[in-house]
Amino acid sequence: MSSRHSSFIQRLIGEAAAPYRAAGLYAWFFARGKLGGDPVFAHLLSAGLLSGRRRILDIGCGQGLLTSWLLSAQAAGQAGRWPETWPAAPQPDHVRGIELMAHDVARADSALAPAVSAGRASFVQADMCHAEFGAADAVVILDVLHYVPLAAQDQVLARVRRSLPPGGVLLLRVGDAAGGLRFAISNWVDHVVTTLRGHRLGTLYCRPLAAWQDTLTRLGFVVEAQSMSEGTPFANVLLVARLPADS
Ligand SMILES: C[S@@+](CC[C@H](N)C(=O)[O-])C[C@H]1O[C@@H](n2cnc3c(N)ncnc32)[C@H](O)[C@@H]1O
Repeated sequence: MSSRHSSFIQRLIGEAAAPYRAAGLYAWFFARGKLGGDPVFAHLLSAGLLSGRRRILDIGCGQGLLTSWLLSAQAAGQAGRWPETWPAAPQPDHVRGIELMAHDVARADSALAPAVSAGRASFVQADMCHAEFGAADAVVILDVLHYVPLAAQDQVLARVRRSLPPGGVLLLRVGDAAGGLRFAISNWVDHVVTTLRGHRLGTLYCRPLAAWQDTLTRLGFVVEAQSMSEGTPFANVLLVARLPADS
């Protein structure tokens, strides 16, 4: 990324993290660390993966960081501060988050209260295995599916498929269970972070990359795998799963 782009990203991190300041130092530092340290956030924008998607559903949204990121990006685009070599800034009408942990939902609701009141965002406390997904143009699931058994993952993915129209996209980030030491590190960090965030973590249910691709292809998606570990020790892969326009 050029230095001009990286200064744009630095500013956007500050803008997207700022709403969490009122929710406490932990929420704010976590937002800054996550948005700055995880390559997926900048990648979503520079690759235009959510450009033109009006209804976005974020499953396992935590404290709503993706929503804040997209709303900040949208504002930057509207203010004419968008990198000219990038695809158009996201312009979602609504971003909806589903999250299991009530305290994360409360934090998202309070940090992003103006967007929630304006009907631009909403957060629901629910288990993705039972939550109503509604209709969406894009579904994002970052580092969440592996908390539930494989059969439940399959059911979530089948329901995601039904919530998307022809041409819809699913952005699914997973660990590659065939990723060797990097995969072992990902799981170890997952245990530590999840415990610190107040979850009790049991078994993680992971698959090798080829099995993820196979599962999505069977559901009718055309799948592209993009490594999403740059600058981290993890074996993370972003699966960009698109439904054909005539599906
Ligand atoms: C590793 S965090 C990722 C958060 C967010 N997607 C991100 O990338 O910043 C996983 C999130 O998934 C949530 N989660 C785990 N199991 C869930 C379930 N069954 N339904 C909904 N959310 C779940 C956790 O509470 C946690 O907030």
